[in-house]
Amino acid sequence: MRNRLVVANWKMNGSLQANEDWVKTFAALGGTDCDAVVCAPHVYLMQMVLLLEDTAVALGAQDASEFEAGAYTGEVSARMLSDIGCRYVILGHSERRSLFGDTDERVAKKTKAALAVGLKPIVCVGETLQERESSQTLRVVNRQLNAVLAEVGVEGLSHCTLAYEPVWAIGTGRSATPEIAQQVHAALRTELALHSPELAQTMRILYGGSVKPGNAASLFAMPDIDGGLIGGAALKAEDFHAICSAH
Ligand code: PGA
Repeated sequence: MRNRLVVANWKMNGSLQANEDWVKTFAALGGTDCDAVVCAPHVYLMQMVLLLEDTAVALGAQDASEFEAGAYTGEVSARMLSDIGCRYVILGHSERRSLFGDTDERVAKKTKAALAVGLKPIVCVGETLQERESSQTLRVVNRQLNAVLAEVGVEGLSHCTLAYEPVWAIGTGRSATPEIAQQVHAALRTELALHSPELAQTMRILYGGSVKPGNAASLFAMPDIDGGLIGGAALKAEDFHAICSAH
């Protein structure tokens, strides 16, 4: 009942030529039975709208402003993203939280702004290594989740996807084991059930952090892991396709 969703997060990578090559290569490899999304840097989104037009791949952005419009130099609004044809937006990625000051509160506001224009937020939660080692994992991810829930409510959250991304597993080559990821995914579902048992069942929860073609199948086989948010391995169309097709 929860169709698999696999999201490429290109981060600050790509070029006009590389993006075109990526889409051509991915399309030539044939369809997959998951929902696939590519989140490209803002400046390439318009190009990607055109490139993805006749494909089954949906387009997403990597961030959006919490503000609607106005004097916010350098920001890109959710409405602009929706205007050009973006359907998804990653919010609260740990790199935004740790490097660019995105607090729980700001992530919640961004989520509200994205929902207001019909975008589908992919809300990231995850603990640092220090937090894991001091047994704070569930406290941290539940705090991050509840900040968004308090702002947008159960109805708002029902239009979101959650992504559990342990910070220690991102870009490190050190993925969480399927069992460790499953534990946190199940705990997130338990937390959601406190607010809405129905939402706990329907919410797609993605795992992110060093997912590769070689470990995707074992992660995706876990009962509460509904797909992945893929960084490094999504830069190669062949690898992303293999992850989308992992069984
Ligand atoms: P990674 O990144 O796959 O390179 O670990 C995942 C992410 O940051 O979304």
